[in-house]
Amino acid sequence: MTLKITQLQSVGAEVSGFDITQPIDDTLKSELISLWNEHAILVFRGQNIEPENQIEFSRIFGPLEVHPLQETTSAEYPELFMLVNEPEKEKYHTASYNGELMVGRLDWHRDLHYTGKPNRGALLRSVVCAEKDGLTGFADLGKAYDALDADTKALLEKIEVVYCFSMQRRHMRYVDLEGYEPGPDSPTKPADVNFPNFPDVAYPAVVTHPVTGRKILEICDQFLDRIIAPHKADLCNDEAIELLERLVAHTRQPEFHYFHQWNEGDMVLWDNWRATHNATGTKPGVKRVIHRTTIAGDATLGRVLETS
Ligand SMILES: [Fe+2]
Repeated sequence: MTLKITQLQSVGAEVSGFDITQPIDDTLKSELISLWNEHAILVFRGQNIEPENQIEFSRIFGPLEVHPLQETTSAEYPELFMLVNEPEKEKYHTASYNGELMVGRLDWHRDLHYTGKPNRGALLRSVVCAEKDGLTGFADLGKAYDALDADTKALLEKIEVVYCFSMQRRHMRYVDLEGYEPGPDSPTKPADVNFPNFPDVAYPAVVTHPVTGRKILEICDQFLDRIIAPHKADLCNDEAIELLERLVAHTRQPEFHYFHQWNEGDMVLWDNWRATHNATGTKPGVKRVIHRTTIAGDATLGRVLETS
């Protein structure tokens, strides 16, 4: 069986030419793992499979994590996390963007980034998809790092960036707030949605990928807050802020992005240590179901800061 690999427009690759419902031998498994490590974002189309198939396939890439939010996991399949747009839950995820209500729009982020120990990766499979909207974006921050100039790369080796968990988007310093208004039911504190208060977490501005050794720019919009002790890198506070603004703008360039428009049966697997992702959201009342499996991580990339 020969895999067909098609480079996506800028980053990531589409993989076809194998039957996911049949046993996958060790040669094919290592080929799939190599492709994942090489491209960070893999798309598999038309996989109208059973949850067992998704779970078994995901295990090729590492041990699976059971998601901590039990109400959203499947009772039958604890490794399966169900992302479902339902009217009674929608209100917490609804906000206004340029006067238009959108549900589930999310800024660029890594999953579990705020713990210092992001999971290795995840696989999403579309079970019911929205006719329009509802795209998931992926950004390859390995390629974003490669594209930086030598002076910036050298400067970033001396810098740690801090992420500050918040439920209030308007308190996040580096997200795009143009035209944004929270919804009437937008949570204001973590307890509103049964989340703990996560302490701040610091990351090296450049992380070495624990598996591939590739350098990754450790910058994403969501929760990005500040540079630790910028004077140690000969930066005053204004320069530190400008640097973060410049890095965020750098990661927003389309040449590092792939936006997936979902069809039923599509699967996207991404490396959460290298790629960030976002969601464009859907209009209120749109039914959408995604099954997600999560590949656990065994590396701690950030350090949790002491709370004072
Ligand atoms: Fe996410």
